[in-house]
Amino acid sequence: MSILKVAKLGNPVLRQMAKPVPVGAIKDHEIQRLIKSMVATMREYGGVGLAAPQVHESVQIFVIEGLEGTGPGRQKPTQLQVLINPVLTVASDELEEDWEGCLSIPDLRGQVPRHREIQVRALGADGHQVDFRATGFHARVIQHEHDHLIGKVFLDRMRSFESLTFLPEFSRYWQGQKTEA
Ligand code: NI
Repeated sequence: MSILKVAKLGNPVLRQMAKPVPVGAIKDHEIQRLIKSMVATMREYGGVGLAAPQVHESVQIFVIEGLEGTGPGRQKPTQLQVLINPVLTVASDELEEDWEGCLSIPDLRGQVPRHREIQVRALGADGHQVDFRATGFHARVIQHEHDHLIGKVFLDRMRSFESLTFLPEFSRYWQGQKTEA
């Protein structure tokens, strides 16, 4: 287990389609070590999610944890989730705008529309299938991380760049503002 270097915007690995993990390989030492290192890296940098391409591994794995906050949909902290080969299905046409940041795009925040509710099917770190519904901020983080597996970043999803904001300006002008569309 180690803290991994995070790929920054401009690194081609962030724009590639990540490969699925063969089911039989999930329990391999290499994949298990990658997952542990991704969790450690996410925690080290205070992220709520991290996808494998962000640590230079173009495979379909992401980890999410600790979705606490004060806005609507953020009240429930979420346990660590490891999702492998995830398939997302839109469960609500309703879109919500809220702030996102990304460890690969440091120091910026922007408002991004996401589906309010999604159905998620994936494999867990033990190789077993999980199937669940996610809403609000949980659904947002999953959509953000899933985008990393298909070569997308949150900037690609913004309706306009008018809300794009550096962190000090975010704290000064925007924090606490209700952003649900
Ligand atoms: Ni990201």
